[in-house]
Amino acid sequence: MISIKKIISLSALLFCCIQFSAAQQPLQLQVQPGKPIAPIQPTMWGIFFEDINFAADGGLYAELVKNRSFEFPMPMMGWDDEEQKGGTSTTLIINNAKTNTGNQRYASVKVNPQSGVYQLINEGFRGMGFQANTSYTFSMWMQNTTGAAVKITVQLVNATGKVIGVTSVPVLKGAWKKISTVINTTDSAQKGKLKLLFEGNGTIDIDMVSLFPFHTFKDRPNGLRADLAQKLADLKPGFVRFPGGCIVEGRDLTNRYQWKATVGNVEDRKLIMNRWNVEFKNKLTPDYYQSFGLGFYEYFQLAEDIGAAPLLILNCGMACQYNSGEVVAMDELQPYIQDALDLIEFANGDSTTVWGKLRTDMGHPAPFHLQFIGVGNEQWEAQYFERYKVFEKAILTKYPGIKIVSGAGPYSRGDYFDMAWKELKQLHPALIDEHYYMPPKWFLDNANRYDNYDRNSIKVFAGEYAAHSKDNAAPEGRNNWESALAEAAFMTGLERNAAVVQMASYAPLLAHVEAWQWRPDLIWFDNTRSAATPNYYVQKLFSNNKGTDVVPILYNNAPLIGKDSVYATAATDQKTNELIIKLVNVSSKEIPVMVNLDKTNLPKQQAALWILQADKYAFNTLDKEVVAPQAKTLDVKGSRIEVTLGAASFTVIRVSTKK
Ligand code: AHR
Repeated sequence: MISIKKIISLSALLFCCIQFSAAQQPLQLQVQPGKPIAPIQPTMWGIFFEDINFAADGGLYAELVKNRSFEFPMPMMGWDDEEQKGGTSTTLIINNAKTNTGNQRYASVKVNPQSGVYQLINEGFRGMGFQANTSYTFSMWMQNTTGAAVKITVQLVNATGKVIGVTSVPVLKGAWKKISTVINTTDSAQKGKLKLLFEGNGTIDIDMVSLFPFHTFKDRPNGLRADLAQKLADLKPGFVRFPGGCIVEGRDLTNRYQWKATVGNVEDRKLIMNRWNVEFKNKLTPDYYQSFGLGFYEYFQLAEDIGAAPLLILNCGMACQYNSGEVVAMDELQPYIQDALDLIEFANGDSTTVWGKLRTDMGHPAPFHLQFIGVGNEQWEAQYFERYKVFEKAILTKYPGIKIVSGAGPYSRGDYFDMAWKELKQLHPALIDEHYYMPPKWFLDNANRYDNYDRNSIKVFAGEYAAHSKDNAAPEGRNNWESALAEAAFMTGLERNAAVVQMASYAPLLAHVEAWQWRPDLIWFDNTRSAATPNYYVQKLFSNNKGTDVVPILYNNAPLIGKDSVYATAATDQKTNELIIKLVNVSSKEIPVMVNLDKTNLPKQQAALWILQADKYAFNTLDKEVVAPQAKTLDVKGSRIEVTLGAASFTVIRVSTKK
């Protein structure tokens, strides 16, 4: 019979084995919690939002109706009509551009009694997602100047045509009015549709036909899809960069992002083509437009709602250099500069200013506390620096407290990159935006990228990065664990160099599984569901465990950058008296680690531990999340922490240093 004593000593042995594999000597690390290297900025880990992959319309913006105001160049795109055989009811698109410059078109529906029921059907963005037993807000602008006797019924249907929600709307007489009503669903649908049923006699004009979930994120009107916005909030981002990306530049200057067209009444915002509509020949997306329902006011509101600093990027008088490369003449740059100054006033000015008043009238009297403004996205060569200089002078003269972000172009190194740093060092940007979309190996090889950057020079915004792993047929397939793990290793280098890198964001952020142009992306979604990628969880673990000061974590008196395939960073949180250690093991074997704490004696405690570990090519889908952090605890006491890093794993340890 085995004795209790033996059981205890066997379990103790087993516990030791979990902490250390007996065969291997632990990697000996030294952490110096009392020797802070640099503060970690509250803005360190943020998010990059661009309207690519249906990220705005059809994604984060909760509107379910595509082409709701018939402004697409093909005005009935997304709409279909149906009536009984021989019916003569019609929909005529009327353009009243002279009286309404923003929203120029409306649909005039002529209903004939012999047609029976005449239906207008909207297909949504790759279908409409409906949850069962949920409320949706239907609204529409309507004009009935001829006194038509028409009945309108609104139906929500599933893919087979079954009605899962219905209501009738009052038909008002006279000039344009908005009607609004709530529809409740009895069932769910992944690929639903909206139907407007017309019966009777006469002509009704309709516009801005809209359907929103009743509950949006924070229940904001004209709001955001709650599950997606919540995923952004859960990252606890230090900043939100918007609205891009190349979308800021446009394919040509007429197609550039102009913030003034995205604020004010949602009905009056002027739609333009989304540049990703035609960007890739193998990924043409003919129904991709920007309605700007999600415009600058809504972006600012989102940033505020999730506690992130807004960082907006403006067009600097240059269209995308991969496309037309068109630039505005230097002597015609002033309107672009005025746009930048007006935007700062829109964000921060009080209601006695023109643009501050618009923000107030839109419902936000308090300022949005804008501090960061980006001038240009991925620009290069002399035409950029020439224009950038004029922006910088105008902005800093009027708003000396604003921090300007300038760009180093699209490449991680090379002539354009070197020229950008050389030119910009003679100017006064607060940060330079660097981009790198590279294979996982590049991220490992470059984990020391910032170790030798000048501490007294301009700071870095690692504004767009992602490890591009091997191809996989599933849309989410490139967001595999190999890519996320490489990013984690690289991010230890960003954190270690917090003295240089003050902002960083993975890119792009969102992608619809049926409407993407670019991958990998941080969050995938369809009409009703969303999936966090392994890369998302890496971002989340870094951001949620940021700390306030980076401290040394050393192997043989040097930073740990790939010794035995392990990468590490450490930080203290001065507000909570905690030490946070992040360890990335990119090898295919377990690695025991002994962390020795310099002049620190930890009280006996169960430290919090989060582990991400998976097979190299594992990835999350909308149906199944196979890579997600496991929360554990670790018994610690005294001046050592012992832990065994699993093969291909990312581990975060959080211990209290309170005496
Ligand atoms: O993130 C996708 C694109 O990559 C961005 O629009 C652009 O800035 C970069 O080239």
